Amino acid sequence: MAAAKPAEYVVMVVEDNQDFAENLSEIIAQNGPVPEVYGDLCSARLRLRDFTPDICFVDLRLPDGDGEDLVADLARTHPHTLSIVLTGNASIQSAISVVNAGAFGFLLKDMPVQGILNSFTRACERIDLERQKENLEEKLRHQEQLALIGQMSATLAHEIKNPLTGISQALELLLDAVGEPPSLAGLKDSILKRFRAMNDLVEDLLEFSKPLNVKRARADMLELVAGIESELRSEGRLKGVEIIVSLGENAEAPRLDEVHFRILLRNLFRNADQAMENQVVRQLLITTSLRDGHFVIEIGDTGPGIPEDKLGKIFEPFFTTKTRGTGLGLALAARILDEHNGSIGVRNVPGSGALFTIELDE
Ligand SMILES: Nc1ncnc2c1ncn2[C@@H]1O[C@H](COP(=O)(O)OP(=O)(O)OP(=O)(O)O)[C@@H](O)[C@H]1O
Ligand SMILES: [Mg+2]
Repeated sequence: MAAAKPAEYVVMVVEDNQDFAENLSEIIAQNGPVPEVYGDLCSARLRLRDFTPDICFVDLRLPDGDGEDLVADLARTHPHTLSIVLTGNASIQSAISVVNAGAFGFLLKDMPVQGILNSFTRACERIDLERQKENLEEKLRHQEQLALIGQMSATLAHEIKNPLTGISQALELLLDAVGEPPSLAGLKDSILKRFRAMNDLVEDLLEFSKPLNVKRARADMLELVAGIESELRSEGRLKGVEIIVSLGENAEAPRLDEVHFRILLRNLFRNADQAMENQVVRQLLITTSLRDGHFVIEIGDTGPGIPEDKLGKIFEPFFTTKTRGTGLGLALAARILDEHNGSIGVRNVPGSGALFTIELDE
């Protein structure tokens, strides 16, 4: 049986017998969190207006009423709270009655400590199961949302790609015809810049909507980074950015899908480059290491970092803070890692910038 861990569960005790309430709290606190204790229905109800315990122990006989009423209320107003009824003398009828009222369990006050603990652990296990179920449901919802966005993206991208290619070809023909006079050089650059931005968007959308067919093989990190760096520099990006690669021992060649990782790293480098635009020191640091059987790649920059209230949103599709961003770069990165059974996370490093951490199994 898994032992309860402190602070993971919030517990409330509603019991007027102070000695028993203290005993129960001590037993629970040794194996989990310190419960909040209330001696009557009225104060418990007041607290429950803005408080949701995971587990609520409720005495059946309270000075100002019947604990069973509180159990019934909790079942209605706090459906995620598990109530465990406390009683000095139980009959089959009272047990049936409280279970019907919505109680999860039943505890006799003269039970040995182990019995109390077992009952608490059972409730914790039920809560863990509920939490796992909610996580899975959330993941499923997210995947359905992604699938829908994928379909929409594919349609849009196909519709845009052809006219875009047409415009680019027409521009070349036009420039050939007029012979590129110097007075038009600025205009040409400006058109090409916008064309490149639109093309990036369409490529991102197409990439995002494709089913990912991940084929993992050992890839040389130095080569991978150098390839992306030269590609980005040839596009006029990474101006004044120093790239520092530090590969850990036995961590030079992770097993990954090179095609997809190229896209992923390109997106991260591009973000870092954009974030560092106004910084004096512009460094992109890439480190690799082995940690607990995982291959870890860290990508840090010397930009301003990510505001705390946005940290939880940046991997969502279409979340962007940029006037010309689509917000697909990191969503695609997360999806690529999902397909690798890996993960990507981010945090700010005080005094430096954003630090992205990628984990892959070895
Ligand atoms: N290295 C970073 N430093 C600071 N903020 C970042 C960094 N990387 C990402 N962000 C934030 O996360 C947001 C989402 O990034 P994402 O790459 O998904 O989209 P985007 O860069 O805005 O647009 P796109 O990549 O589609 O052109 C960015 O708009 C930016 O606010
Ligand atoms: Mg981006």
